[in-house]
Amino acid sequence: MSSILGAIVIARNGDRREFNQDPKTYAPSLTDSTALGVSDLHLLGTQLREEYLTPGSASFISSISGDIADTQEIRVRAKAGGEGSVVFDSAIALLQGLFPPNPKNKITLANGEVVSAPLGGYQYVPLETVEPGNDRSMEPWTDCPAFQKHVKSFHESDAFKDKAEEADSFFKDIKDYVFGRPTTLENIIYDFMNTQLMYNQTFAYRLPPTYIDQARALADFHEDGVFSDDEANGVGNIAGRTLMHTILESLGHIALKDDPLQFMLVQTTYQPFISLFHQTDIIKDHPELKGIPNFGSALAIELRSGSPPDMRDFLRFKFKNGTAADDWSLIHPFGHKSDIPLTEFIYKAQGAAISSNKQWAQVCGVNSGFSPMQAAGKSTIHFALGSMLLFTLFVFGILLRRKRAQKYIRLPEDEDETLQVRPELRMEKGRLV
Ligand SMILES: *[C@@H]1O[C@H](CO)[C@@H](O)[C@H](O)[C@H]1NC(C)=O
Ligand SMILES: *[C@@H]1O[C@H](CO)[C@@H](O)[C@H](O)[C@H]1NC(C)=O
Repeated sequence: MSSILGAIVIARNGDRREFNQDPKTYAPSLTDSTALGVSDLHLLGTQLREEYLTPGSASFISSISGDIADTQEIRVRAKAGGEGSVVFDSAIALLQGLFPPNPKNKITLANGEVVSAPLGGYQYVPLETVEPGNDRSMEPWTDCPAFQKHVKSFHESDAFKDKAEEADSFFKDIKDYVFGRPTTLENIIYDFMNTQLMYNQTFAYRLPPTYIDQARALADFHEDGVFSDDEANGVGNIAGRTLMHTILESLGHIALKDDPLQFMLVQTTYQPFISLFHQTDIIKDHPELKGIPNFGSALAIELRSGSPPDMRDFLRFKFKNGTAADDWSLIHPFGHKSDIPLTEFIYKAQGAAISSNKQWAQVCGVNSGFSPMQAAGKSTIHFALGSMLLFTLFVFGILLRRKRAQKYIRLPEDEDETLQVRPELRMEKGRLV
């Protein structure tokens, strides 16, 4: 008998074309996934399947339906916004590895005919895309004045200036390899160099060894400074603070005995990893986590029941630095040396969590005339399901029932304003165009 009740997996997107962000506002540019990126995320899906859905694994979730996905047991949220199409593709590819096509995915009709799902029993797992235009829970750092102020003060800090000085000669050396791009610490050129190195043979043959590592170290320094804060509840950690609400809320569902949710996938980009590692003090024991996690890296948070006589629930945190990393490494939040009791984690983590669009607006210092429904009406999502309305009513009913049962963790009651995904999005299989 496994003692694991369920897991939350936070996964970074796969490799993609060059991606730029405005150094001051972090407004994203367009990019697109590559075959390398999606095959990597597919591999991550199979690795997660080995870990959580395969009997014999120490983390096997024994009560989950592992062959044919039960869509009530799994929930998937993917960040729209910056790198949105890449994150979407990554989530799909991961799910294809997590729940591969299964010949048992078929149905017998009244007339006796058996119909199989396409592609040898392809499995369609519902995916919610979260747009920053109506839900700030996955990309809270854009359009946030307080965050921009934080970025500015980081750029004006002594630590930043020292680093820029230190990097000066390197920036001179690489001028020939970045084709006129500004070589300053703000304008990290790592993404450009890394993309070229990966996909351009001429560039790869020319680039002197160690340059990419030096560029990566500078990018790590920069992104770590931008997406972290000295205080757990500082605005620098905003990417992790909204994610923390999703984590706490999902743990509440997984911990409830009569709630079907057992596996939560949060498909996102690199920023929240950095903040989360800072705000939970994980970087104190693991300074190597200061910086950008690799493409396809994943943080798994497992909910485990204690072994008798200790009947408490515990959390285990595991990190994998990309699919090439040999194994999951255990990392412990809040100075623990082993699994942390769930109640203690909630107690220590909830202070920094941002649980509503309204609270986000306060933290960012913008007027909270924010209307989620208004923004949703304008979105250009194509729904793949025909009878949306029926499904919506159906799911709404389920979620209402669920809501009543949700007493494990106390969260703001203000339904409209919480960062919870609205029920109709649960059935959405769409992509932004
Ligand atoms: C590939 O790299 C070479 C040499 O650095 C450069 O001249 C060329 O423009 C690059 N090609 C692309 C498609 O970026
Ligand atoms: C992840 O791997 C990259 C290189 O592949 C390395 O630069 C980085 O420090 C690693 N991060 C951690 C947390 O191990």
